[in-house]
Amino acid sequence: MPTNSDLKENNLMEKIVSLCKRRGFVVQNSEIYGGLANSWDFGPLGVEVKRNIKNYWWKKNVIQRDDVFGLDSAIIMNPKVWEASGHLKSFSDPLVECKSCHNRFRFDDLKEGKYGKVVEKGEKYLCPYCQGELTEEKKFNLMFKTFLGPTEDKASIVYLRPETAQGIFINFKYILNTSRQKLPLGIAQIGKSFRNEITPSNFIFRVREFEQMELEYFVNPQEDEKWYQYWREERFNWFLKLGLKKENLRLREHQKDELAHYAKACTDIEYKFPFGWGELEGIANRTDYDLKNHQKYSQKDLQYFDEETKQSFFPYVIEPSVGVERSMLAFLLDSYCEEEAENGEKRIVLKLNPLLSPIKMAIFPLVRNQEIIRKKAQEIYFALKQELPYSIDYDEVGSIGRRYRRQDEIGTPWCVTIDHQTLEDDTVTIRDRDTMKQERISIKEIKQWLQEKI
Ligand code: GAP
Repeated sequence: MPTNSDLKENNLMEKIVSLCKRRGFVVQNSEIYGGLANSWDFGPLGVEVKRNIKNYWWKKNVIQRDDVFGLDSAIIMNPKVWEASGHLKSFSDPLVECKSCHNRFRFDDLKEGKYGKVVEKGEKYLCPYCQGELTEEKKFNLMFKTFLGPTEDKASIVYLRPETAQGIFINFKYILNTSRQKLPLGIAQIGKSFRNEITPSNFIFRVREFEQMELEYFVNPQEDEKWYQYWREERFNWFLKLGLKKENLRLREHQKDELAHYAKACTDIEYKFPFGWGELEGIANRTDYDLKNHQKYSQKDLQYFDEETKQSFFPYVIEPSVGVERSMLAFLLDSYCEEEAENGEKRIVLKLNPLLSPIKMAIFPLVRNQEIIRKKAQEIYFALKQELPYSIDYDEVGSIGRRYRRQDEIGTPWCVTIDHQTLEDDTVTIRDRDTMKQERISIKEIKQWLQEKI
């Protein structure tokens, strides 16, 4: 059987895309109309994985802390926000177009060979696809524009937010005042962001519409380095806790010339995708750039007043920011295995951390043609569905082996089988996805057994 690293070098990405489509994780958007390029919809299982990622992020970063508060701000904001934040001026990618085949490229990626072999003629780069001449580099702003209200004139232009962070900065004073929290103070938000990417690619890695989980952690400027290091470690460990293999993760500090217009320092948590190392999450020291600019543009006082020193100042901000879809892709890739099943057949298994598994438990009657066993299984299934806050599945179609295979492939950690013995002593077997071992427990223990595992 191939190992996970053999697969990575071969066609792991294709296998994940196919599994996602086949089993209801992710499908191309507008498929019945021939699709919309690089736009994806999340089916019943994909929605659960995304929700699990978001819930665990929220739990760790908001619920379990006493210095972080939640926010849900609007996607469309006063356009002044983007003037103040610098996005109108600086949130752009360098674009070049091939004069022959008219393909468009991000110039920085082209020079790094991300579209294939770099072709140069003298001082000039050529199209990596057809070796045609390229246009001059021009800056392409990534923000989607639309109009507010019925008139489509300049005064009604608004933007879809390209990051959730600005909604946090403009609410800093509101949350500071209502929470009565001293520094450090964190504000967390999960929500959609939009970027008119020049070349969205690699399935759900780079898309134009995605969800971000962002935390703006406001600190005393004298402590910025300490908190920057703290969040780098904290966020790296979050991925490890959720099961990503350490050898597939690394921290990469940005060079000065890569830093975003607002950042003093930035570290990427990178994952070893089948197409190479890629950014999973960025942890940036945004300094007081955003608050200072919003104060300047809004003419509202956005400083923090320190009761002890009786001084006002702009806090610095440490920002861990991560995409939900990109994380989901890393979790799926990392957990995909092909190995031998109990009966010697090949099995595909997603060894997802149970916290992320879309279905936590599947219930099977051993045979479906014995009504009494079937009824008992359905009784257990419906009772668990009502009592547990997790997705529970029921399957009676095909042999037990085939049903295990179906659940393995979508990462269900435990399968419960109801058999003849169940009718005698109210016990069931629970089969573990990874070890394939079975144990017998009583029906009334199932609920607690599961809760202890997750
Ligand atoms: N507020 C800071 C910020 O937005 P970023 O590095 O541009 O920083 C943060 O984005 C994270 O958002 C990335 O690490 C990635 O996980 C996700 N992300 C950014 N652009 C994306 C895209 N086009 N498609 C999917 N995820 C994206």
